[in-house]
Amino acid sequence: MYDFKPAAPLDTGELYRELLAAADSLTTDEPDAVANMANVAALLWEFLPDLNWAGFYRVAPTKDGMGSELVLGPFVGRPACIRIPFGTGVCGTAAQSRAAQLVADVHAFPGHIACDAASQSELVVPVLRGGAVIAVIDLDSPRPARFTEADAEGIAALAALLSDRI
Ligand code: SME
Repeated sequence: MYDFKPAAPLDTGELYRELLAAADSLTTDEPDAVANMANVAALLWEFLPDLNWAGFYRVAPTKDGMGSELVLGPFVGRPACIRIPFGTGVCGTAAQSRAAQLVADVHAFPGHIACDAASQSELVVPVLRGGAVIAVIDLDSPRPARFTEADAEGIAALAALLSDRI
């Protein structure tokens, strides 16, 4: 139905322009958050080389309903840990600080949660709505230092696009 895979190798800026255009066209008329996150996870996997995990954690109630934490959302990759408290690991740090975490070596990140032993580097970008974090986008790579500032900027633009679509 859709052919959103990049046709040829692109420089990083062009890659993210195409990724954003594809994400925009897939989500613009669709109010269902799960469908939109699922399609964007698939796009991330198709567009970005050298990933072993790409997807979402959403801010959702804790099991006892007394607070909130990150809960696994749509993704591509191996089954992952389901619940991550704010402030824990790379994802929880991004959610608590509302700041992107660009981690060249996950083994050097205090509290990193190893869902897949193959992961060597990671980029986590918060999705904000009205200044509050509603989710994070998490990318893992088996290649050390896989992610650059250009990736962080591209994923931040994607997070802004998705702010009222997930
Ligand atoms: N590594 C993450 C956990 C999520 S998995 O990578 C999918 C972290 O430290 O928060």
